[in-house]
Amino acid sequence: MFLGIDVGTGGTRAVLVNRDGHVIASCSSEHAPIHSERIGWAEQDPADWWRAARTAIGDVLKQADLPSSKIESIGLTGQMHGCVMLDSNGEVLRPALIWCDQRTQPECDWLEAKIGRARLIELTSNPALPNFTLTKLLWVRDHQPEIFSRIAHVLCPKDYVRYELTGELAIDMQEASGTLLLDVANRRWSTEVAEAAGIPMAWLPRLFEGPEVCARINDAGVAATGLAAGTPVVAGAGDQGAGAVGMGIVSSGSVSATIGTSGVVFASTDRPALDPQGRLHTFCHAAPGLWHVMGVTNGAGLSLRWFRDTFAPGTDYDTLVGEASSIPAGSEGLLWAPYLFGERTPHLDPLARAAFVGLTASHTRAHCVRAVLEGVAFSLKDTFTLFAELGIPVTRIRLGGGGARSPLWQQIQADIYGQPVELLAAEEGGAYGAALLAGVGVKAWPTVEAACAATIQVAGEVAPRSAKEMASAYESFRRLYPALKQVSEPRS
Ligand code: XUL
Repeated sequence: MFLGIDVGTGGTRAVLVNRDGHVIASCSSEHAPIHSERIGWAEQDPADWWRAARTAIGDVLKQADLPSSKIESIGLTGQMHGCVMLDSNGEVLRPALIWCDQRTQPECDWLEAKIGRARLIELTSNPALPNFTLTKLLWVRDHQPEIFSRIAHVLCPKDYVRYELTGELAIDMQEASGTLLLDVANRRWSTEVAEAAGIPMAWLPRLFEGPEVCARINDAGVAATGLAAGTPVVAGAGDQGAGAVGMGIVSSGSVSATIGTSGVVFASTDRPALDPQGRLHTFCHAAPGLWHVMGVTNGAGLSLRWFRDTFAPGTDYDTLVGEASSIPAGSEGLLWAPYLFGERTPHLDPLARAAFVGLTASHTRAHCVRAVLEGVAFSLKDTFTLFAELGIPVTRIRLGGGGARSPLWQQIQADIYGQPVELLAAEEGGAYGAALLAGVGVKAWPTVEAACAATIQVAGEVAPRSAKEMASAYESFRRLYPALKQVSEPRS
């Protein structure tokens, strides 16, 4: 039996998985809302993650009604990029700046000027983006020097929970890739970047591969959770890495398209595939010896939620999407640019704005909903276009998240990606992938790939029906961003 723990943004989830890959029990505990003192700022209190983790672990043990000694190993995953700062006594110095905090553009500019954008991409495989951990540390250096001077350790969110459970300061390669301090190609910290940024190497946790055992539950962890002393804890992975393991995306050519609040297209690669322009994230995979590239659409599921809350409050998603299923592919010329939260891939523009374009008096609410579903998939298609440009193979696409649960959104994605999409028998998210990594750590399976082959099943496939219409609508979609940028750019 393996325990996967996912320290997400909205809450922490604990999942117990047996050696057949079946979920035995699953419990979640919500986090306090994100604290946002100013527009674009996003902070959370690490103590709240730890409280939620204790609750979710306690509940899952109760639900399974098994002694904790039955848990062979534990894997952690969670929201990526967040910056937890500890002093030399291991005390949290301030709330963590989390992944969606957008305040650090000046620090990104400083870093790229200091190191050189091309050199930074050469060293870390990625450009400086406000999402990445290092830029958050630099913000604290610039704005809260008193706190910066007391930092002794820096951790990502799930690694803080590991610290509470085990007393160990550790991180996995996939998560570390999102700090902008990792030499992703060589799977080691980049001393050159750390030195240029003024970050002592001693602040950084020890690096491990995702399925490596890096810690054990200590007495404090036992007292807080009821887990058994000495239970091995593997390094795990960030939510995207562990989610990909949970969907079996662990060989070159296999790609997932997951629509949650944000949308991610994730491809496993056998080399660090670089976009010299930095439009994709190039990270180490959770499986040793593999890398991955991913493109992120900030406002994916968020687009539908925003539309529902704003124009159809109280209506459930099934009703809303049901109305849209009678609308023809292409929404009769209505387009949705989903940039409600700026955009990452491919535009890297935190100031991008969303829009409906092409409305007529004949368009109905149902057209708008279909246009939203299409616009999100077009925006994910932008990542597939980059993959084609960079020669990243896409032999099969698996759907995940809310976009995999709606038959209409499945069909829209098959039509827009222009190839069949696979649906999984059970899609359990990052916590499940973390539990598989835990299983590999204690040799229940010899490799991550073997764990996926033994546990993940494809339940069906959806073939494209309107690929031609959607290819031509995509051409129109691609003209939206440059046009909108011109409209919303400040005039001098
Ligand atoms: C990945 C990313 C998100 C966060 C929050 O780059 O920013 O997936 O990990 O879920």
